[in-house]
Amino acid sequence: MATLLVTGGAGYIGSHTAVALLEAGHRVVSLDNYSNSSPLALERVQRIAGRPLTAVEGDVRDAALLARLFAGHAFDGVIHFAALKAVGESVAQPLAYYENNVGGTLSLLRAMDTAGVRRFVFSSSATVYGAPDLLPITEQAPVRTTNPYGATKAMVEQVLRDLAAADDRWSVVSLRYFNPIGAHPSGEIGEDPNDIPNNLFPFICQVAAGRREQLAVFGDDWPTPDGTGVRDYLHVVDLAAGHLRAFEFVQRHAGMVPVNLGTGRGVSVLQLVRAFEAATGQPIAYRIVGRRPGDIAECWADPTSAERLLGWRAEFGVERACADGWRWQRRNPDGYRTKGGIT
Ligand code: NAD
Ligand code: WQD
Repeated sequence: MATLLVTGGAGYIGSHTAVALLEAGHRVVSLDNYSNSSPLALERVQRIAGRPLTAVEGDVRDAALLARLFAGHAFDGVIHFAALKAVGESVAQPLAYYENNVGGTLSLLRAMDTAGVRRFVFSSSATVYGAPDLLPITEQAPVRTTNPYGATKAMVEQVLRDLAAADDRWSVVSLRYFNPIGAHPSGEIGEDPNDIPNNLFPFICQVAAGRREQLAVFGDDWPTPDGTGVRDYLHVVDLAAGHLRAFEFVQRHAGMVPVNLGTGRGVSVLQLVRAFEAATGQPIAYRIVGRRPGDIAECWADPTSAERLLGWRAEFGVERACADGWRWQRRNPDGYRTKGGIT
């Protein structure tokens, strides 16, 4: 049994990973400033797993708080989710993104080094590949980012590579997630976007729930089989399991390695809409609009390194993710703000 610091533990992916860690018998300390989440998520994590965790409210940039945390717990490793993640917002507020995502990670790595805790699993993103030349995308594809959010992920990866090269006591996996969707099958935790969702899946869920009239499909003139954008959608429960495997990997290996987490399958916008309708019986009204600036046509993972290095592969398809995501949405129409909680 290990003790892990999970930053951003109340967030969408962090909460699902906390469930997986607790269910595997590990101890979890979550550090979250709740800037994009609710402490209620952590109550539900504990209810699902049937085990307690330690929830600390605070910021990863707070060096004094980190020093106290590392002094108070014998951590075996850190899984670092805490970050800002909206691409458009990062273009408008680059300083906030560099401060939070790069500055926050530097402060965390410094505290870890001082405490002698050098096992690190990082939340990176397929966004570091920009518009890929070749599909499926392997980890050898060039890193070329197209917005400040993506740049923060690429910069942190560079820091991690340099750190592991300088000191072979560091052991780091940078997980490059493709498109996480869905929710825990209990319907108790899931994605809870503030405001109008930027991403496709939560938007579809809100159309199904009657919160939005129709989905705007950003272009049907892409060079793809049905003209709509193609992505590699992976179930968040599969993604959470990948973190458990990555933590097991950093316990046994030194160095820094980037690993794609995706299914290896491309699904178009319209295919995802149809899968959602088939899995839930809910019709999704949509209309085609112009392309969204900055979008790419197609993007899916070569997930073979994840299988070879971590022994991980995605188990669930998009139908299952749609059914689970809809259960969360239906029971919590206003996310964690829903009055009376789940039904
Ligand atoms: P999220 O916003 O739900 O979770 C991030 C959590 O970190 C939130 O609970 C937020 O309150 C917390 N946080 C933010 N800044 C903090 C700070 N300075 N100190 C303490 N806590 C802080 O997002 P998510 O979708 O769960 O994403 C988790 C990680 O995965 C992020 O690093 C994100 O960039 C990365 N990622 C997400 C996706 C995706 O599509 N969701 C894809 C690729 C990578
Ligand atoms: C998917 C497809 C859209 C919304 C983004 C970030 C990336 C990563 C995941 C963190 C595209 C289309 C979308 C809508 C639509 N996040 N779409 N109507 O753009 O692949 O990735 O989230 O690291 O960094 O860039 O995901 O869900 O926004 O879009 O037609 O209302 O759905 O054009 O083809 P994307 P997405």
